[in-house]
Amino acid sequence: MFKKRPDFRNLLHLTIRPLLTGLFLLSLIFTAFAQTDTTATAAQGGTDAAGGAATDGAATDGATPAAGAAGIPTSDEAIAAGATVFNANCTVCHAINSQVVGPALKGVTERRPLPWLLKFIHNSQDVVKSGDSYAVNLFNKFNKTVMPPFTSLSEDQIKSVLGYIQSESNKAAAPAQAAAGDGTATDGQQAGGGGAAVGGISSQYFTIILVGLIIVLVLILLVLILIISVMSRFLNQRTDLDEEDRESINRTTNYRKIVTSTPFIGIIIFIFLSIAVKVGLDGLYSIGVQQGYMPKQPIAYSHELHAGKYEIPCQYCHTGVMKSKSANIPSANICMNCHQQIKTESPEIQKIYAAIDFNPETQTYGNNKKPIQWVRVHNLPDLVYFNHAQHVKVGGLECQTCHGPIQEMPVVYQYSKLTMGWCINCHRETQVNAKGNAYYDKLLELHEASNPNEPMTVASIGGLECSKCHY
Ligand code: HEC
Ligand code: HEC
Ligand code: HEC
Ligand code: HEC
Ligand code: HEC
Ligand code: HEC
Repeated sequence: MFKKRPDFRNLLHLTIRPLLTGLFLLSLIFTAFAQTDTTATAAQGGTDAAGGAATDGAATDGATPAAGAAGIPTSDEAIAAGATVFNANCTVCHAINSQVVGPALKGVTERRPLPWLLKFIHNSQDVVKSGDSYAVNLFNKFNKTVMPPFTSLSEDQIKSVLGYIQSESNKAAAPAQAAAGDGTATDGQQAGGGGAAVGGISSQYFTIILVGLIIVLVLILLVLILIISVMSRFLNQRTDLDEEDRESINRTTNYRKIVTSTPFIGIIIFIFLSIAVKVGLDGLYSIGVQQGYMPKQPIAYSHELHAGKYEIPCQYCHTGVMKSKSANIPSANICMNCHQQIKTESPEIQKIYAAIDFNPETQTYGNNKKPIQWVRVHNLPDLVYFNHAQHVKVGGLECQTCHGPIQEMPVVYQYSKLTMGWCINCHRETQVNAKGNAYYDKLLELHEASNPNEPMTVASIGGLECSKCHY
């Protein structure tokens, strides 16, 4: 008769096993997801850093919708006048959203009080020398780079520049968020990411949600274990139980049997193989991919200084880029156009002199030349044909599209993956730059006649044919 009573212990065993399995599988799935997420982020590399910073900025801005600080003009004329002054005097060293030679100026009108800003822009060194701790810290942080005084600017002009900076800072919030969203969406990681907002948020909060879920599952598990032990104790205290019932109550799980069971071993082998295959595939895909490669160069030549701060055009040194396959690394003679006079005492510049056996004292050359051994950063395998002129001159692409923000790099690194997929993707997406190019007029006509609704991409003029890129 007693047997008809529901057997709590068995009931609990029945519920707890599926629960445990569920928990186990769930955590596996989560770990897998988390892993793809991190690899994706890692792969995005440099791009992401920028994107991340942008989102950060946007977030703070969203929280404090920058109200105009008192005294800074907000009228359209003042902002336009400010833009002119800013472009003429400040863009050499400053941008709103990114650090150039000086700090990013986004939100500076909230960061610092107006009188301080007026004084600082008027003559920054006065403020630094007065011992103002913020200015001194900033000055040190920027390696004691002197921001030149702008004594020629009137107070109203400086205020209008600040008005311009303030309006750009407020504007910057929205596009920055959109851009961050775009980045994730194109990456295809957030499958079908519902618009920019989702793309931006999900990776950030994913970990939090994941940890939350695991905590909840563990809590449920603990509660169940507690219930079991209370129930068993309660049942054990009863005297009206027969032997069989007692046995069923105190039955412990036979772990040994579970561990040696075929399904268990099967699952373990399956998981193990899956991980091995994933790691193997990831490894195979990244063979030969040198994204981020940043070798140390024999002379501490900096693009940040030359191409960024001094705005020397890329072609001044990379002379081949518009007319030939190769961009060329400049010879020491090009450096000497300037360094015969500039920084002659610097040990780094002396290395140039050593390479061409130049004696700065006598201004004469000897015969003991040994070329500077620059370490090559970008290197496609020999089986690939890549032509700079085709991309830069005909295609009208910026160097930065492929090489990233070179003008901000103290040491050059490989910004893009340089894989076949990378070339192909761009060829699929990029429209041919046919405007004002008579060579393309006929082709464009033909293309529009046959596919009136599709833009003429590089792919549609044969940019995906193996023989175009492979010898
Ligand atoms: C030659 C480069 C250079 C130019 C040109 C320049 N700055 Fe600066 N600026 C700097 C540097 C470097 C700093 C960091 C502080 C330092 O080193 O003294 C700075 C700092 C600042 C700061 C403080 C930023 C902060 O985060 O608190 C403001 C504001 C500023 N600059 C505004 C301007 C404006 C406006 C102009 C144009 C009228 C201008 N700067 C032109 C180099 C420059
Ligand atoms: C004053 C001369 C000079 C200017 C201007 C200059 N570069 Fe360079 N560039 C060099 C030298 C020297 C090297 C080799 C040393 C190194 O890698 O840093 C180099 C290396 C590079 C490399 C890496 C080449 C490799 O090994 O694969 C790239 C890419 C590059 N430059 C792009 C640019 C771009 C883009 C600009 C314009 C924004 C530019 N450079 C402006 C002198 C210059
Ligand atoms: C158009 C002029 C120009 C050319 C060409 C040029 N430089 Fe410079 N270089 C400069 C200027 C300006 C500075 C900054 C000097 C200063 O900080 O006072 C500089 C600074 C440097 C420094 C830092 C020196 C130090 O100790 O601070 C190095 C290293 C350097 N250049 C290497 C090169 C090399 C290598 C080349 C050739 C590939 C080259 N430069 C070509 C103008 C030039
Ligand atoms: C479409 C992408 C793309 C653009 C745009 C581009 N590059 Fe390159 N660049 C490459 C690739 C790919 C290589 C590696 C070439 C190789 O290994 O044969 C390279 C190599 C280089 C090198 C190393 C020397 C060489 O020629 O192999 C320099 C220097 C360079 N680029 C400078 C520039 C400059 C300067 C510009 C802009 C005027 C520019 N690149 C625009 C893709 C690009
Ligand atoms: C950022 C975009 C971009 C990337 C990355 C890129 N290309 Fe291109 N490529 C173009 C454009 C745009 C053209 C069209 C130029 C023109 O109008 O002829 C082109 C044209 C070509 C052509 C000539 C195609 C034809 O039908 O005439 C070849 C070959 C080529 N690219 C090779 C490569 C290789 C190899 C790589 C990778 C190492 C690469 N490209 C990476 C944009 C790109
Ligand atoms: C837009 C240029 C482009 C086109 C079109 C292209 N490839 Fe490639 N391919 C590359 C580049 C760049 C690499 C080198 C990738 C690397 O080093 O990671 C490559 C590498 C390869 C490799 C690997 C070689 C090795 O040693 O790793 C094979 C195989 C290959 N391509 C076959 C093809 C075939 C087949 C086609 C036609 C369907 C084709 N490619 C079309 C640019 C191209």
